[in-house]
Amino acid sequence: METKRFYINSQDPEPKYIEEAAVLIRNGQLVAFPTETVYGLGANALNPQACAEIFKVKGRPQDNPLIVHVANLDMMKPLVNGWSERAERCARAFWPGPLTLVLSKTGIIPDTVSAGLDSVGIRMPNNPIALALIEKAGVPIAAPSANLSGKPSPTNGIHVWKDLKERIPLILDGGVCDVGVESTVLDLTGEIPCILRPGGVTREKLEEVLGKVSIDHPSGDQPPKAPGMKYRHYAPKGELFLLIGEREKVLTRITEEILKAHRRLKKVGVLCTLESASHLHSQRPELLFVLGSEERPEEVASSLYEGLRLCDEQGIDTILAEGVSQNGIGFAIMNRLEKASGHNIWYV
Ligand code: TXA
Ligand code: MG
Repeated sequence: METKRFYINSQDPEPKYIEEAAVLIRNGQLVAFPTETVYGLGANALNPQACAEIFKVKGRPQDNPLIVHVANLDMMKPLVNGWSERAERCARAFWPGPLTLVLSKTGIIPDTVSAGLDSVGIRMPNNPIALALIEKAGVPIAAPSANLSGKPSPTNGIHVWKDLKERIPLILDGGVCDVGVESTVLDLTGEIPCILRPGGVTREKLEEVLGKVSIDHPSGDQPPKAPGMKYRHYAPKGELFLLIGEREKVLTRITEEILKAHRRLKKVGVLCTLESASHLHSQRPELLFVLGSEERPEEVASSLYEGLRLCDEQGIDTILAEGVSQNGIGFAIMNRLEKASGHNIWYV
């Protein structure tokens, strides 16, 4: 299949591009589009065949439900049972934005979308292209991240092109995503709201609106409540080690590990903060990728997946990633790095 790619204005999307994309969605086809978090691979959420195609194209496990994207609250209400006061407060505070609410679903949501669960994850993305597309299509759009399963989520149009060209009819390329990590998935079906996946909206911000919010901590005998969290997502091909500790110690350890890896003729990639980069340059790793300043964790979030993808493209064998503070968006960054490392974490 030939894949079209429209370069589209992210602030003021060209109506002709939106129209063409909306027609595809209404006809049961797939369209990749930007959101403020990562790119999504969209289909009409009310069309089970179209949604089944998403799983096929991505190579996605069947038990992993899709997030449904809406453009306004009217579009959402028929999809869920008992739109609660808590949900209303979240929507008012954070939508459009990087927050997915898991709520009890109605029969309108196909089982393909919810992967057999009786809940559905819904969000209103904060991106003019995404909102215009949903509005024009006139249906809610189911969309997982627009990567092949197992690869890091795409944060620009090039990532989507590399993963999905010849598999889908259209990519709306609106450039780089603002946030760079996926939405926070918040389960509102229980008594206490529970974060199933940390993301763009932090626990601190949620607690200001909701009071106590818990975090899902899967353990050996208890699988994660978001089925997608059990997979080793965000995984580069190289082996990733996450280093946590004081800067001096982390720098010393990274230096030692570069030497060790080079002795074994491995190609080394370092993902680190701006503050650490100049100390590591002289160690000559094959790739030194600056994630951003530790003072500006949003910068780190927005470049993280680009860094992981570059490691793959350059055939890096050993990836050494510097941990960041767990505050705010740092919690989501560390969650993704921990997963990418397959829990290869060194506390130094
Ligand atoms: O920022 C995002 O959320 C992006 C953009 C495109 O919106 N989407 C995204 O989708 O990251 P995906 O499919 O890559 O990740 C969705 C996550 C998975 O971990 C899935 O298991 C979880 O949300 N999820 C979806 N519906 C759920 C439900 N009803 N109950 C529990 N977890 C759910
Ligand atoms: Mg994903």
